[in-house]
Amino acid sequence: MAPLSLSEQLQQLSINPTEKNIKSLTFPNENVVDFYRNLIADKISKVSGIDYNIVYEALETVNSLEKGDLSIPIPRILRGKKGVNPREINHEWAAKLSDKDSEFFIPHLKSVKAAEIFIAFYFDQEFIIQNTIPLVLAKNQNYGSLKLVENKKIVIEFSSPNIAKPFHAGHLRSTIIGGFLSNLYKFMGWDVVSMNYLGDWGKQFGLLAIGFERYGSEEALLNDPINHLFEVYVKINGDVTKEKEEEIFTEDDPKSTNNLARQYFKRMEDGDEEALKIWSRFRELSIEKYISTYARLNIAYDVYSGESQVPKEKMDEALKLMHEKDLIHEDKGAKLIDLTKFNKKLGKTLVTKSDGTSLYLTRDVGAAIDRYEKYKFDKMIYVIAMQQDLHTAQFFEILKQLGFEWANRLEHVNFGMVQGMSTRKGTVVFLDNILNDTKDKMHEVMKKNEAKYNQIEDPEKVSDLIGVSAVMIQDMQAKRINNYEFKWERMLSFEGDTGPYLQYAHSRLKSVERNAGALFDELKSANINYSLLNEECAANLTRVIAQFPDVLRVAMKNHEPSTICTYLFRLSHQVSSCYDILWVAGQEKDVALARLALYSAARQTLFNGMTLLGLTPVERM
Ligand code: ARG
Repeated sequence: MAPLSLSEQLQQLSINPTEKNIKSLTFPNENVVDFYRNLIADKISKVSGIDYNIVYEALETVNSLEKGDLSIPIPRILRGKKGVNPREINHEWAAKLSDKDSEFFIPHLKSVKAAEIFIAFYFDQEFIIQNTIPLVLAKNQNYGSLKLVENKKIVIEFSSPNIAKPFHAGHLRSTIIGGFLSNLYKFMGWDVVSMNYLGDWGKQFGLLAIGFERYGSEEALLNDPINHLFEVYVKINGDVTKEKEEEIFTEDDPKSTNNLARQYFKRMEDGDEEALKIWSRFRELSIEKYISTYARLNIAYDVYSGESQVPKEKMDEALKLMHEKDLIHEDKGAKLIDLTKFNKKLGKTLVTKSDGTSLYLTRDVGAAIDRYEKYKFDKMIYVIAMQQDLHTAQFFEILKQLGFEWANRLEHVNFGMVQGMSTRKGTVVFLDNILNDTKDKMHEVMKKNEAKYNQIEDPEKVSDLIGVSAVMIQDMQAKRINNYEFKWERMLSFEGDTGPYLQYAHSRLKSVERNAGALFDELKSANINYSLLNEECAANLTRVIAQFPDVLRVAMKNHEPSTICTYLFRLSHQVSSCYDILWVAGQEKDVALARLALYSAARQTLFNGMTLLGLTPVERM
């Protein structure tokens, strides 16, 4: 007979989560911690008389193993109840919950401890091992994935660089965080539309077109569009500055470069095909190049949109609504909205210029309306640097005031600055330059260990993957709102909490699997005797593995990649503390098999976490 699933085991104990009206969804079969939550909530609720669902929501995962696996802060469930001292009642309850002869006894626990205002619960070693490792090995690449929603659509806009301008650190962070969010939402059952909103419109594109006539080269454009357009842009801006400084033209001379650019852009805004032709080539060639660079970060966009793609009708519609709702006042021909009425911090803001051309802000308003009509999203996330907090809050508020009921589905995921990011030449032009530089530096580091280096089949490829990991982990390891400094030596080190270290941890686990040879193939079919894993470190490693689904949920709730990074470092440290104790080689077959299963589950969990962050785990390095 097949063993009972964890849901069935709950049922046998007359615990039926579906009847309990719990706010968060619960997945006992996919998340062992959820099984325990229900088990513990049931008994605490009985011993305390407090609602099951209140207790359930208050049970927290603990991120240091000494402090338990689940813990409950008693004041959270007492909710100010008078005359009950959390520092006493916790001891009283803990005694009952761990007393075999009490009706409140909780099975499958190693211990229950009361301390301060908490009760901490420690999972039973054997039970957690028996139920976690087979789960991971059965679910493989899907371990940790929970169906949190059904038929829900999210638009995630991220990266959004400006054509012909440098790809700065803000764009890099947006790319990394947005890529991660897209992966995570997909993993949790959302239908994700990933979108790049290019800065591909505005007077500077008139300037760029004039610049290309003067300085452009067809060959260079085809070869390296991003860098070439930037070169042209720098040169033509040089002309503008020179004309001003040397007073070659008067301010409004139609022949000045500035005015030529303005006229050119006007033609573009009027839809002049000839004028749009060259612009659309710039755009297409740039996108082609972006696609291959983003691929190095495992990112493939569903949509390349951009400021140029915002339909004029949508902006007109928004302006009309602003008038109808009496939000607009005019000042010297320009139109303004006073948002201080709704929120003091939002100030006053321009919605059209005096010459009638659109603005960044108006385009964002129009773009949101257009996207809602196209995608009917349940949620839309903008991953934009916190320098644009005000801008984002402004257009969110405008949409709300215009009466769009979906305006509360928009969310801004912001982040701090990166200091000191530059390439060897001292400049950052495009993502490519950063990635190539990191790759070269990584390659040099790898060459230092000649013996190992010679074993690597494709060092070019591997140094690229590890270099990318270095950049990405450095970016995601602290809370996204923090600023950080770009540090080459630190980032590329194989020791400490770095991307290369995670890659190393993964490749070492991979080699354990490889070295096991034929035994590894037996993992799937063999009957594994998990009771042979009776060492403390095996249980501890499994306890960390078991936390993975919970960690993902927390990371998702806070849109915080650092939650997963921190977890993966803990996992890797736990693995490495097992190596000296739990040998696979030279062991009796049953022991070797059980240990191999443990390592393999650890590797899979590490793999899944790294992949969600956007890394490609390497097999050798
Ligand atoms: N292209 C803009 C910039 O580089 C970022 C766009 C952010 N997204 C948005 N919907 N405004 O500053």
